Amino acid sequence: MLKKGKISIMHKDLSEILITKDQIEKRVKELALEISEDYKGKDVFFIGVLKGCFLFISDLVKHLKIETNIDFMMISSYEGKQSTGIVRILLDLKQPIDGKDVIIVEDIVDTGLTINYLTKALKTRKPKSIEVCTLLNKPSCRKINVNLKYVGFDIPDKFVVGYGLDYKEFYRNLPYVGVLKDEVI
Ligand code: IMP
Repeated sequence: MLKKGKISIMHKDLSEILITKDQIEKRVKELALEISEDYKGKDVFFIGVLKGCFLFISDLVKHLKIETNIDFMMISSYEGKQSTGIVRILLDLKQPIDGKDVIIVEDIVDTGLTINYLTKALKTRKPKSIEVCTLLNKPSCRKINVNLKYVGFDIPDKFVVGYGLDYKEFYRNLPYVGVLKDEVI
């Protein structure tokens, strides 16, 4: 894919671009405005789940019209393409969240195992409220019921990369979300 005036060449390892850079930009702004409206007058504590969230959270917070705190966690639940169901905290928050309105910012919710584990773990730290904002959601892959307050895009059961999402640590820098070719996996 090559658009005149805009450099938008699809990476050779992808079979299609599922969500373009423009679509992401528009939706991220909408989510930021929705969150700003819902949390008007409040301070919100955003928890970015590394590494996948790094582009999403940085774009999201730029458009917020509320006071924010931002911290990060790193957890590991995937080995290559498969969810192991075993979640490990590799990097924890630097600040306490008791009594705070918390929004967890994820790149993608697939089986739901990771976000379910993380939400439960963080609830034991007694936040005032806790919600989830995910850029992508694969509803057909769910293994456990999870409550997602803010969803950027529902997508089909395809392995996607780009805009923070990786396969074996590659493709995170792509400005769009694309489907990886079967032969690459
Ligand atoms: P879950 O526990 O199955 O919901 O998976 C959540 C995590 O798996 C995400 O934070 C991603 O790191 C990873 N993941 C799930 N699906 C994809 C995908 O299609 N591409 C890249 N990473 C994915």
